Amino acid sequence: MFGAAGQLGIELVRELKERNYSVTGWDRSQVDITDSSAVENALASFEPELVFNCAAYNQVDVAEQEPQAAFLVNALAVRNLALACRQVDARLVHYSTDYVFDGFARHPYVEDDPTHPLGAYAVSKLAGELYAQAYLDRALVVRTSGVFGPGGLHTARGNFVELMLRLAGRGQPIRVVEDHVASPAFAPLLAARTLDLVDRAQTGIFHVGGGTPISWFQFARLIFEAAHLEPVLLATNEREYRTPARRPKYSALSNAKMERVGLAPMPPLREALDLYFAKRQA
Ligand SMILES: NC(=O)c1ccc[n+]([C@@H]2O[C@H](COP(=O)([O-])OP(=O)(O)OC[C@H]3O[C@@H](n4cnc5c(N)ncnc54)[C@H](OP(=O)(O)O)[C@@H]3O)[C@@H](O)[C@H]2O)c1
Repeated sequence: MFGAAGQLGIELVRELKERNYSVTGWDRSQVDITDSSAVENALASFEPELVFNCAAYNQVDVAEQEPQAAFLVNALAVRNLALACRQVDARLVHYSTDYVFDGFARHPYVEDDPTHPLGAYAVSKLAGELYAQAYLDRALVVRTSGVFGPGGLHTARGNFVELMLRLAGRGQPIRVVEDHVASPAFAPLLAARTLDLVDRAQTGIFHVGGGTPISWFQFARLIFEAAHLEPVLLATNEREYRTPARRPKYSALSNAKMERVGLAPMPPLREALDLYFAKRQA
């Protein structure tokens, strides 16, 4: 497993161990996936059946200043992984994003909807999907959205929940966009659903979002409700709150395909947040 110290990586390692897999997880200091010989050596020494890539360059706005850095990690490094997997005949499980879509749809996106990324991060992630599928016949590509897991307490990038809690702690009004909708996914559930797909030998692209399409403003409201906090929360929009990267206005993912192959639906987002806070305090 590459990217083992990220929000999702931590949960996948835990979930794999719970399901009695023998797991080796490498964080960036152990294997940098942009180093093709490091990747090749890592896989050659273990000959794994399954390889998970949880490593990613996730700084959507910074990527507009350094598109090469995003492309190296999210695209070319996935090529390294795919080629190394082919050498040892391993199945690759790779993650992608709701940002491969342009957000003009008004229904949760399904796997066959046409992609149209709007910025450097999104283009790099789409290229990663293509590389995984170019070299491997059995790759599983899981697209997800707004990942939040307790690991985000300790990672440099964190997550939206931790950002909201930090802002609430400052005691000033908090402005969050209400005209962008996603389907935030709780990392432990994303890990569990991924392994359910692996157990069913599924390949190709699957959407595993959080199951609840919600604006970032409404998500912030739900977070403060679950955390029993009452900061001043104000709605804003993309016109007032400009960011370097363009983002899809609507990028909720439909989990229908995942459910059709027999996986349990995601619980309501509020339930996932309660689980998050329970784990955070544990
Ligand atoms: N987070 C979201 O909101 C979101 C939304 C949609 C899709 N996704 C996708 O979901 C997957 C998991 O995301 P996440 O939330 O778990 O991300 P995360 O918490 O930011 O973790 C990413 C991990 O990748 C590591 N990494 C970065 N560059 C690397 C490299 N060159 N070699 C090895 N490791 C490297 C990072 O290490 P450092 O900390 O040392 O940089 C970090 O531990 C990613 O594919 C992401 O694109 C995430």
